[in-house]
Amino acid sequence: MRMAVFISRSAEETSALATEYAKSLKPGDVVLLEGGMGAGKTVFAKGVARGLGIEDEVLSPTYAYMNDYGGKLYHYDCYRLKNGAQAEALGLTDYFYGGGVCLIEWAENIAEVLPQNCKKVTLTKVSEGERRIEY
Ligand SMILES: Nc1ncnc2c1ncn2[C@@H]1O[C@H](COP(=O)(O)OP(=O)(O)OP(=O)(O)O)[C@@H](O)[C@H]1O
Ligand SMILES: [Mg+2]
Repeated sequence: MRMAVFISRSAEETSALATEYAKSLKPGDVVLLEGGMGAGKTVFAKGVARGLGIEDEVLSPTYAYMNDYGGKLYHYDCYRLKNGAQAEALGLTDYFYGGGVCLIEWAENIAEVLPQNCKKVTLTKVSEGERRIEY
């Protein structure tokens, strides 16, 4: 497994990096976006969406658990989910095995129901404007 580490110095830079990263994704890929609050997970998701040719604005799915961008991209925010069973009961796990790319924030909350071969992107806040990005 090849690994890459970057330092991003702005939200724009993180988004651009994500747009580039999107080129490596295939339909059906499930990507865990790891990192604490404000690390830049949603900023990264916006960049991936652009890389996948999605023109709709990507918003934080905080109130929806998951936003579906035309079956091409499913963007999850599992922050308020208690466990995998809850995700399953809500039908959220069905999309893991479909033809779209899944991006999941706070995936650790539903660890029991994640597919086996997930990709991972880790974002770490280094300072106010700097993020370490690893995948
Ligand atoms: N280098 C950077 N990369 C990404 N975001 C940055 C960077 N520097 C500053 N920021 C700011 O950090 C914030 C990241 O917010 P974002 O919503 O993407 O975080 P998040 O990881 O999704 O948090 P949450 O867990 O609350 O959903 C934005 O306000 C963004 O402008
Ligand atoms: Mg977010």
